[in-house]
Amino acid sequence: MTRITSANETDIPMLVSLNNRFSASGLTLARTPEFAANHLGDYRVLRDATGGVVGCVALDEYSPSVAEVISLAVEQDAQGLGHGRALIAAAVELARSRGYIELFSVSYSDDLFLSSGFERVPLTTYPEKISRYVKVDKTELEVGEKHCFARRLA
Ligand SMILES: CC(C)(COP(=O)(O)OP(=O)(O)OC[C@H]1O[C@@H](n2cnc3c(N)ncnc32)[C@H](O)[C@@H]1OP(=O)(O)O)[C@@H](O)C(=O)NCCC(=O)NCCS
Repeated sequence: MTRITSANETDIPMLVSLNNRFSASGLTLARTPEFAANHLGDYRVLRDATGGVVGCVALDEYSPSVAEVISLAVEQDAQGLGHGRALIAAAVELARSRGYIELFSVSYSDDLFLSSGFERVPLTTYPEKISRYVKVDKTELEVGEKHCFARRLA
């Protein structure tokens, strides 16, 4: 039995380790405990029956109307069960409650985002994202297969 909840401070080490487990292969961008602590309210967490974190997702605000879906990750053992899609739905719900009118994400998981109501758009739609990559980790810009997906919420 799993459930999706908000995150609390005791989740920070697990949020970072779960996200960073996939950063070496370029699937996620590496995040620090400071980042997770500063964005704690922007996370949604998938918990197992004991309350342990087995998945996560977060929103990263670009402007009062636009946010990026980041740090989407599900423990290997729990993948393929619909949790990724449920986490994206939770991120969409959080974004709506915050009043964003547009969400985007950069991902290899085309089918997952397309089946979650997103459509493919050029990365150049979000010049702010490109400038953040240059500051954070420009390797993502150099990975050819990653695509940008957007969903209007209004
Ligand atoms: C991507 C990830 C979060 C998906 O989680 P999940 O719980 O396995 O996903 P779901 O079970 O909800 O899958 C939903 C659908 O998306 C598809 N899908 C999932 N991951 C996919 C991927 N990497 N590529 C293509 N399709 C994918 C599934 O086949 C499934 O389709 P179906 O319902 O038609 O069978 C998970 O695989 C993961 O943590 N991967 C490593 C980190 C990562 O890649 N994060 C994404 C950064 S944007």
